[in-house]
Amino acid sequence: MTEAKSYFTDGAAYDQLARRFTLPAGEVFLDWLALPNGLSWLDAGCGTGAFTQLLLDRCAPRRVSAIDPSAEQIAYARTTPTAKRVDFQIGDAQGLSFANGAFDAAAMALVVAFVPDPNKAMAELKRVTRPGGTIGAYMWDFLNNGSPRQRLNDAVARMGVAVQPLPGYAHSRMEAMEGFFKSAGLADTATRVIEFEVAYDNFDEYWTQQTGLASGAVETIRSMSAADIERLKADLRTSLPKNKAGRIAYKVKANAVKGRVPA
Ligand SMILES: C[S@@+](CC[C@H](N)C(=O)[O-])C[C@H]1O[C@@H](n2cnc3c(N)ncnc32)[C@H](O)[C@@H]1O
Repeated sequence: MTEAKSYFTDGAAYDQLARRFTLPAGEVFLDWLALPNGLSWLDAGCGTGAFTQLLLDRCAPRRVSAIDPSAEQIAYARTTPTAKRVDFQIGDAQGLSFANGAFDAAAMALVVAFVPDPNKAMAELKRVTRPGGTIGAYMWDFLNNGSPRQRLNDAVARMGVAVQPLPGYAHSRMEAMEGFFKSAGLADTATRVIEFEVAYDNFDEYWTQQTGLASGAVETIRSMSAADIERLKADLRTSLPKNKAGRIAYKVKANAVKGRVPA
């Protein structure tokens, strides 16, 4: 797989999106892992630390280390209150600097599709998690219309412009994700689908947030003429679904997997 271009260079823009999407998905995921309080955790691919803060809030960990290769995301994370209780470091899940068995649990929240070699990352997560420890991951189901930004991509594509998918988008399939866990030799693997509705009060809120953080589609939009942008907005205004309350609202879907490091 080719190296994914990193769009994670604007911590503030990411954080806005993350808080809307990461938190509801992360809550379901952590409830599903159902791990006891007081554990030592690794959050691999922590971004701005939205999921890391959830870990603190819901799992009362003894210790948390959190790594991400994006210097900008880590710099942002270090300015947040979360940093008082978390060791944020620049790092790559495919080559971790931690000792064997350093953690009781490790998580990759919305990361698998961005990692060039998920098998390598899983092998590393397994290495740094103690025997009997738990590893979990979840990712938007890109191939089944699960991504929160799919409708923007579709509308750009309807303008006749091909939007490059993430190189690792197929890694988000449930079978692929579970395959990474099994190939790493994890035991008792289990899967679940996380599905929920995201809603925006109005179109401007949707547009500002969805186009605030770079992506393949957003880069295309940024190079469009003003007239084409108006056409795109007109398409979205009519094509975005609405709920009974009149808010823009649609379902998103993530695939989650967990497994245990054999004793
Ligand atoms: C969609 S964000 C998820 C951030 C955070 N976990 C959350 O749930 O909000 C994906 C993150 O994966 C990170 N990432 C990309 N390649 C990675 C790698 N090889 N190892 C660890 N993280 C990586 C990106 O820098 C980005 O911050």
